[in-house]
Amino acid sequence: MSKIFKYLKPYWLFALLCPLSMILEVSMDLIQPQLMSNIVDNGILGSGALDENLQYVLRTGILMLGFSLLGCAGGIASAAFGTTVAQKFGNDMRKDTFDKVMHLSFQQTDKFTTGSLVTRLTNDITAIQQFVAMSLRMFVRTGMQFLGGIACLLTLNVNFGLVLIISLPVQLTVVALIMKRAAPLFGVVQNKLDKVNSIVQENVTGARVVKAFTREEYEIDRFGNANSELMETNMKVQKLLAILNPILMVVMNASVMAIILIGGLQVEAKAMEVGSVMAAVTYITQILMSVMMVGMMFQQVSRAMASAKRVKEVLDTEPVIFDGNSGAKITEGKVEFKNVSFAYPNTSGKPVLKNINLTAQPGQMLAILGSTGCGKTSLVNLIPRFYDCTDGEVLIDGVNVKDYKLDDLRSNIGVVLQKSELFSGTVAENIRWGDDNASDDEVKLAAQTAQAEEFIQGFTDGYDTMISEKGASLSGGQKQRMSIARAILKKPKILIFDDSTSALDLSTEAKLHAALRERLTDVTVIMIAQRIASVMRADKIAVIDKSTICAFGTHAELMQTSKVYRDIYYSQMKEEGGASVG
Ligand code: UTP
Ligand code: MG
Repeated sequence: MSKIFKYLKPYWLFALLCPLSMILEVSMDLIQPQLMSNIVDNGILGSGALDENLQYVLRTGILMLGFSLLGCAGGIASAAFGTTVAQKFGNDMRKDTFDKVMHLSFQQTDKFTTGSLVTRLTNDITAIQQFVAMSLRMFVRTGMQFLGGIACLLTLNVNFGLVLIISLPVQLTVVALIMKRAAPLFGVVQNKLDKVNSIVQENVTGARVVKAFTREEYEIDRFGNANSELMETNMKVQKLLAILNPILMVVMNASVMAIILIGGLQVEAKAMEVGSVMAAVTYITQILMSVMMVGMMFQQVSRAMASAKRVKEVLDTEPVIFDGNSGAKITEGKVEFKNVSFAYPNTSGKPVLKNINLTAQPGQMLAILGSTGCGKTSLVNLIPRFYDCTDGEVLIDGVNVKDYKLDDLRSNIGVVLQKSELFSGTVAENIRWGDDNASDDEVKLAAQTAQAEEFIQGFTDGYDTMISEKGASLSGGQKQRMSIARAILKKPKILIFDDSTSALDLSTEAKLHAALRERLTDVTVIMIAQRIASVMRADKIAVIDKSTICAFGTHAELMQTSKVYRDIYYSQMKEEGGASVG
């Protein structure tokens, strides 16, 4: 709730004008029955001359029209103010939540799941927005209609109070009972919606894999199940709500009958006039209608509360990885791991890396070799702080990575991820992700170094060729080289290749290495690879086995000292007929 108010604050003026204009509308609504009753009692049934009575009816009629126009103006103004506030409110909240999501650490986004974050950013915020728009107008409207109606009704005749004493408690009890059962279901509906969104997301992004494994039927079933669960929960809520209004209508009609009965007796006894009974019927309808509105509002409130809780969870999540405050800047790019251990938060503390000690020198290429799943990606992820190590220190130029500002740290590190991610846009635009302001020549040079120039020139539009979403229009090796060009253009002090040349043939890979050596003379290059052929020319090679570094040295040294390295070497030699590693 306090979060909602925080977001309303900048628009307080409109948020105030909205209910105020609503007061105008409702006041006019409350006056109408009284005027109508005057027309009947003083005009139609009046004791004066016919002409005089007609004049009275006409005058009051015009007055009613005027009031109703005024009420209408109030209604329009109120809707306009309310909608403006709600839209701006939603816009601000969505922006802040998105901002938060962008700054969350991987482990935190993993915990929320992508599907749920999408629901929270769209559906949940819309629910809160609708609640704000409604409450600004309806709270005032319902309250005034209720209290004003009661006052007007009792002014007409206190005996009508009898009807209220019976009908109001009945209605309120019905509303309370039903809402008590429906409210908890709203949160459940949102959670089911998360699941549906997650499945859609996975399948849209993974459409190719789904097709390749002909898993369509399976996925359609999975979606069907999640979708039915969502529908069933929604049905439960709707069933409860469906019985609400008919019950309230019965109570309302019974009350109207009671008013007519009491009113009739009063007219008989000459204590009241016919017009006043008519007005009383309108008032009781307004009063009980407002109770029905309270029921509807409860619905919206419970829905909005469930959504607000979910959005608040995101807004209140403090990123676990945040700026350091030493003010240090990266100058050389020397990377050191000191007694580093690391475990993923979701694996109940089982370490992926244990006691790593390793140094990568500026201007040198450090290769990291190891079997699949041994922790290579996890190791390099600690350098740009995609995750923080659980023990020990990762240092750059002697300063703990946690002490750098994240921007300073990450802008000096070029990472080519294991899975190349490109974006829809032209080739040049994609490479410019590394540096917005790079000149065409710089883009070209980066592409040349990355061995991408040749295939880019082969495209009919060259650097202006459009790449489709996620780079689907490129081959695996082309995507890798585009990602490499993008990282090089950034001119980082530290360049990390996570198995980024796996899709290149050995001669292209050799050309790439030669170009890197020639052009990036003072950059620290860390290169992860599975193939010994890819790493044997590196200045130093670290071999990871059983979560730790089991050997370190040059190719020649390792061939002498490390059995693990020799085993990998000979097994790969056999596989590739010895040609590639010789
Ligand atoms: P890595 O992803 O570091 O392995 O995962 P790797 O050496 O780079 O493997 P390849 O060569 O790319 O295939 C190391 C371990 O950490 C776990 C994985 O299950 C793996 O056993 N892991 C990885 C997690 O628990 N959570 C993650 O988010 C990622
Ligand atoms: Mg990996």
